[in-house]
Amino acid sequence: MPEPESPVTFPPAFLWGAATSAYQIEGAVREDGRTPSIWDTFSHTPGKTAGGETGDIANDHYHRYRDDVAMMADLGLTAYRFSVSWSRVQPTGRGPAVQRGLDFYRRLVDELLSHGIKPALTLYHWDLPQELEDAGGWPERETALRFAEYAGIVGEALGDRVEQWITLNEPWCSAFLGYGSGVHAPGRTDPEASLRAAHHLNLAHGLGTTALRAAMPARNSIAVSLNSAVVRPLTQDPADVAAARRIDDLASGIFHGPMLHGAYPETLFAATAAVTDWSYVQDGDLALIKQPLDALGLNYYTPTLVSAAPADGSGPRADGHGSSESSPWPGVNDVAFHQTPGERTEMGWTIDPTGLQDLLMRYAREVPGLPLYITENGAAYDDKPDPDGRVHDPERIAYLHGHLRAVRRAIADGTDVRGYYLWSLMDNFEWAYGYDKRFGAVYVDYATQARTPKSSALWYREAARNGELPP
Ligand code: NOJ
Repeated sequence: MPEPESPVTFPPAFLWGAATSAYQIEGAVREDGRTPSIWDTFSHTPGKTAGGETGDIANDHYHRYRDDVAMMADLGLTAYRFSVSWSRVQPTGRGPAVQRGLDFYRRLVDELLSHGIKPALTLYHWDLPQELEDAGGWPERETALRFAEYAGIVGEALGDRVEQWITLNEPWCSAFLGYGSGVHAPGRTDPEASLRAAHHLNLAHGLGTTALRAAMPARNSIAVSLNSAVVRPLTQDPADVAAARRIDDLASGIFHGPMLHGAYPETLFAATAAVTDWSYVQDGDLALIKQPLDALGLNYYTPTLVSAAPADGSGPRADGHGSSESSPWPGVNDVAFHQTPGERTEMGWTIDPTGLQDLLMRYAREVPGLPLYITENGAAYDDKPDPDGRVHDPERIAYLHGHLRAVRRAIADGTDVRGYYLWSLMDNFEWAYGYDKRFGAVYVDYATQARTPKSSALWYREAARNGELPP
């Protein structure tokens, strides 16, 4: 495929964004009526996060949002993706909303709009109210009904000022890291529960979309953010190709199948028969899940390389999701995961922009005409301030450059990509990894909460200002 001519220029309306999520940056976990989410409980459980770190204070964004928005404006961002903390808005996960909680997001959105920054609001970025987990969590159907109620509340409160809505962020992680491998909250290791969770997350997306439509002006756009894997077979041997297909079904098809096409992948039921009978999928669910969407959000970091392996599971495991005795892949014991060759980020994730292009092209084919957004892409590096206080991160600039070029190539090939949200605006609480892994374009000194734009943030500002990648 020919490279786009230099300079690499983007369409004028292309959104230059950055993303964050509530638990990773807000702090203020006990303020204004907020109650614990599963991530509060999990991070306070010994041994679950690196160094026992929690989001109690995080980036203190709850108190510093005005300065943070001013910083975004200074960095030339035209869009900002954030998430709402469910337990700030509905502390018990049901019933009437707490206005003080909603008011925080009203103020944040108004601040963004007054700086000309387009807000993109994610309703669920992994922080289920603990009360709902105590009642069974995502493996239970009731949680999907509660999500629809919550979506309606937030839609009604903010639908007049937020146009871009995202129901769920990376439901794969919620289901399979939360209930399968247990490396994420709530830390359960039950393969059947992980598949039940996947179905009820799908249902939550469908019911939540319907609730949003009823609560908001019709002009608003509703999407979901999927971390659909880019799964590659190690060789073209039919056994390896079949292994890649099985993983793709469980990583991607299990969500985009019902959401976009109203059906689970044909092979999924047979592949998971030893784990679950799928009896919790009720008549009519698939029609509820498949709601017309206005856009699709894709989060991309690295491809997944697999081969067939002996069914005793003795093959290598390196699936990039932390080490755990439990597997996030229910029913799969005959697939080996391999490290994709090439340079890696601090997460150990191989840098491969061609995966992003492949991902975009795949969805352009799967759902022709549906606008696509990169709702997350970025890299962790071991950034440190120089003696002069500046933070130089040439590796991140190279990463962003490579991936934005891949986006531009996909656009040149006819894919309708409308925007890019860098993960992340600033260093933050990287879940089980704590604060050690720095994904930010802005450096955060957690002792003082000082924010320092890294050289990548300045590079990105130039790209956003000119609609063109700096050299
Ligand atoms: C995906 C998640 O949505 C985000 O919360 C996380 O920090 C990044 N990936 C990096 O792991």
